[in-house]
Amino acid sequence: MSQKFNRYTVTAALPYANGPVHIGHLAGVYVPADIYVRYLRAQGKDVAFVCGSDEHGVAITLKARKEGVSPQEIVDKYHAIIKKSFEELGISFDIYSRTSSKVHHETSAEMFKELFDKGVFEEQVSSQYYDEEAGQFLADRYIVGTCPNCGNENAYGDQCEKCGISLSPAELINPRSALSGAQPVLKETKHWYLPMQDYENWLRQWILQGHKEWKPNVYGQCKSWLDTGLKPRAMTRDLDWGVRVPLAGAEGKVLYVWFDAPIGYISATKEWADAQGKDWESYWRAEDTRLIHFIGKDNIVFHCIIFPSILKADGNYILPDNVPANEFLNLEGDKISTSRNWAVWLHEYLQELPGKEDVLRYVLCANAPETKDNDFTWKDFQARNNNELVAIYGNFVNRALVLTHKYYEGRVPAAGDLAPIDQETIDKVRQAPGKISKALENFKFREALVEFMDLARVGNKYLADTEPWKLIKENPDRVNTILNIALQIVANLSILGEPFLPKTSKKLAAILGSANGSWTTVGQADLLQPGHQVNKVELLFEKIEDSVMEEQVLKLQNTKKQNEPVPEVSVDPAKPEITFDDFVKLDIRVGTVLEAEAMPKSKKLLKLKVDTGIDQRTILSGIAQHFSPAEIIGQQVSVLVNLAPRKMMGVESQGMILMAEDSNGDLRFILPSEQVNNGALVS
Ligand code: MF3
Ligand code: ZN
Repeated sequence: MSQKFNRYTVTAALPYANGPVHIGHLAGVYVPADIYVRYLRAQGKDVAFVCGSDEHGVAITLKARKEGVSPQEIVDKYHAIIKKSFEELGISFDIYSRTSSKVHHETSAEMFKELFDKGVFEEQVSSQYYDEEAGQFLADRYIVGTCPNCGNENAYGDQCEKCGISLSPAELINPRSALSGAQPVLKETKHWYLPMQDYENWLRQWILQGHKEWKPNVYGQCKSWLDTGLKPRAMTRDLDWGVRVPLAGAEGKVLYVWFDAPIGYISATKEWADAQGKDWESYWRAEDTRLIHFIGKDNIVFHCIIFPSILKADGNYILPDNVPANEFLNLEGDKISTSRNWAVWLHEYLQELPGKEDVLRYVLCANAPETKDNDFTWKDFQARNNNELVAIYGNFVNRALVLTHKYYEGRVPAAGDLAPIDQETIDKVRQAPGKISKALENFKFREALVEFMDLARVGNKYLADTEPWKLIKENPDRVNTILNIALQIVANLSILGEPFLPKTSKKLAAILGSANGSWTTVGQADLLQPGHQVNKVELLFEKIEDSVMEEQVLKLQNTKKQNEPVPEVSVDPAKPEITFDDFVKLDIRVGTVLEAEAMPKSKKLLKLKVDTGIDQRTILSGIAQHFSPAEIIGQQVSVLVNLAPRKMMGVESQGMILMAEDSNGDLRFILPSEQVNNGALVS
């Protein structure tokens, strides 16, 4: 397939170190990238798998402001969390670096300087909002104002989060600075622009003609960018957090985060190569190196259009051969959102569902948003674990191993003559690696996983069809053959499953007492020699009970509740002023309801007998839709006792029970804070 390549540089998008990693990131980028790389390594390829934290840009400074700490503290905190959680999930980066590293600052500044010296950039002076109180230019996110579309008073300079419209700061009504609240002023500033329009023809040729094999979602997005036409894009920003612009007269300016971050792939490769005694340049400059970027769909323009233009402008780099970007994963029907905490966070998952790393990898791969957005639900997670991993893969392996121990004390039996069903089964084993490879080479990870599971299905069916447990008495030779073949399938599964389920494969290889083989031997029915001793059986997967899932669902429900907007309260307008004399005319007493009954033919009225301390009297109260007669007998109430009697539906009401009504229309009794004697005066 890719004969001309002798080396692979595989990158996975650098996650912003402004929060932990969630399942959306994993399904979109890191799980597929890791599967691909493990597959390449199993084939003995030379691979550099690089990643790291993206620690610059406004995403970081905003988070720092919100938490009242420095940007450095933010990136240190999340870099550590992200790095550890990736490791625990078995994402096998050769290096997980960070863009605040010295080598990255040097590498990206150098690259900028090189392009500057070549005259690649256009200098442009433009007017940007400036906060005179804070003494700094304001990034779009730092400007708030009224949304011209929906009137939301807290829209950001790049987007209104209420109605979702994208904005530019100039469109905001009454803009103010998020830093000081001051009204920002327009001030001139100079920046260095990459003239994207100059690369348009080349990009058309390179992508639209040269890379028709790219995934349709990626190719389509590139085409649409190119058809719209490209404009110069500023590669520097007025910000005090990032890589300093390495030019005289550029104080207070840093490199645009989307300029420096992708160069992070190169810096990380340098750091890794240095530590390994390798030559980083061969991974970025040699024509026989295949560069592949794993990313999410929101990163397509940066990896397919802007970064390649930078590499091209420099001239000394290879370009990505493929950019298998995925769409988005939703969670229980809603868009995953860091700010709304609507996510399953990897570090929490690892803690709350320990030992289930491969289950998550499995579910996220099986459900990866390869061609369209997909939904993650805990119900599906449980079903895939119980009905697929446990019932198919785990069950087959367990049956084969248990029978081997039972009949042969754990020694692999020798196969004899093959029946047609044996031959058919062995043929399927032979075909499996090719099918899985083909899918993986085409970045069809879901399909590859289905092919893998199909081999486990083949094994399951083979045992079910041949029923060795029924033959062991009268035809032990036949059972030797059946179990030999079943064990060969198990050994193949342990090799073929490694890219997807590395921990499971490791465990299985240990049980089989064989090192994980490689893709060069796989597909054969002689991976385990007759007489080879296998170890004690252990279950590969455990059933997940409903209660475990219910806990996770409850956790999400609580998040949802916290996110619910506080309902708007409507308050009645104030009444006209009265004098103190007006007030003292009211004779309000605390009393107790002695009797209560529904008024015939009235939906609203209850007929009450109330002890007011002065007397016992009948009062009609319009509370029948809120209280039943039985529940208010014995209830203390406040009564306006000197209200003129009034006849309703043939009954005279002698006073009024005081109630508070909230904006939902719910009624509550007005009560003293503690019990008082009937007749106590309210004043
Ligand atoms: N931090 C970016 C994001 O999360 C991705 C950066 S990828 C890189 O969307 F190429 F710039 F590193
Ligand atoms: Zn709006």
